[in-house]
Amino acid sequence: MKKILITGGSGLVGSRLTELLLASGKYEVMHFSRSGKEIAGATVYKWDVEAGQLEEEALQKADCIIHLAGTGIMEKAWIDSQKEKIMESRTLSTALLVEKLTVLDHQVKTYIGASAIGYYGIEESNKTTSKHEKDAAGSDFLAQVCVEWEKAHAEVPSTIRSAIIRVGIVLSDKGGALIEMAKPVKAWAGAALGDGNQVISWIHIDDLCRIFIKAIEDDKMNETYNAVAPNPVTNAELTRIIANTLDKPLFLPNVPEPAMYLLLGQQAEAVLRSIKASEDKIVKAGFEFDFVDAQKAVEDFYK
Ligand SMILES: NC(=O)c1ccc[n+]([C@@H]2O[C@H](COP(=O)([O-])OP(=O)(O)OC[C@H]3O[C@@H](n4cnc5c(N)ncnc54)[C@H](OP(=O)(O)O)[C@@H]3O)[C@@H](O)[C@H]2O)c1
Repeated sequence: MKKILITGGSGLVGSRLTELLLASGKYEVMHFSRSGKEIAGATVYKWDVEAGQLEEEALQKADCIIHLAGTGIMEKAWIDSQKEKIMESRTLSTALLVEKLTVLDHQVKTYIGASAIGYYGIEESNKTTSKHEKDAAGSDFLAQVCVEWEKAHAEVPSTIRSAIIRVGIVLSDKGGALIEMAKPVKAWAGAALGDGNQVISWIHIDDLCRIFIKAIEDDKMNETYNAVAPNPVTNAELTRIIANTLDKPLFLPNVPEPAMYLLLGQQAEAVLRSIKASEDKIVKAGFEFDFVDAQKAVEDFYK
């Protein structure tokens, strides 16, 4: 059985990925966690990124590392110290893994690093062209976080096959964007945000986990890949899809952009950003999506 070590395995993506890996019967799963939070079936090892410490046994046992850990971008207001935490939880954790992979005896053959389509930066709403993996990075805060995170991933020793997955907006009923968008809709207060035209390049959480599993298995995957479904929708469309699926009316006007900035400060960038990313490369690599239609993806959680 291949031994997969997931950092941040207790999170939204990591816990579902753990379930799917274990259900296949082909993998053993280990986690690096700060708190040691148990997820059924996984062996949890502690690490402390700030102190530069980790339980080395996990790295020595692992065949593959999937590095997901990082402070949640919507966790707290983006004051300077929080922005530093968002950045350093990713760059320093990666540097710690790289350092240990350089000095320890280990058998790691594959390293898969998470990034985000936020790499491409904030775009004007409803752009018709899609962002491909070779396109330039943006200059806003989240884009710079992705740039620095990817630079850190690139330091992984070259003897290890390495891939980077630029994750889109993950749809799940356990957390993330869908839950936050569904809350006001359920409370009869649903409304599109900003002009509502910002493009949401979404992905069903199970398809995302299947991309990570493909990256574990497919020796040809050694580059950077967008993980987004083929048919992105606008914020207004996704809000309408959620309302229809939940049988709730939408009668309120859009929440204007200035109100979003008043409410969230700079964090509003994360909600109002429009990014249309292309799925071409992961499809060419042989990945087949189960969910290509946002309506079907939302229904999968709520019907
Ligand atoms: N969900 C999305 O829509 C989305 C979109 C694009 C990119 N991504 C990226 O994909 C990754 C996984 O996403 P997710 O939604 O599963 O995130 P999540 O639910 O927030 O989980 C991330 C995990 O990282 C660990 N973590 C948090 N702060 C940390 C810190 N300061 N130092 C070290 N570890 C820390 C936590 O595990 P412990 O508490 O066990 O240590 C947490 O469970 C994240 O890096 C995220 O930025 C997610």
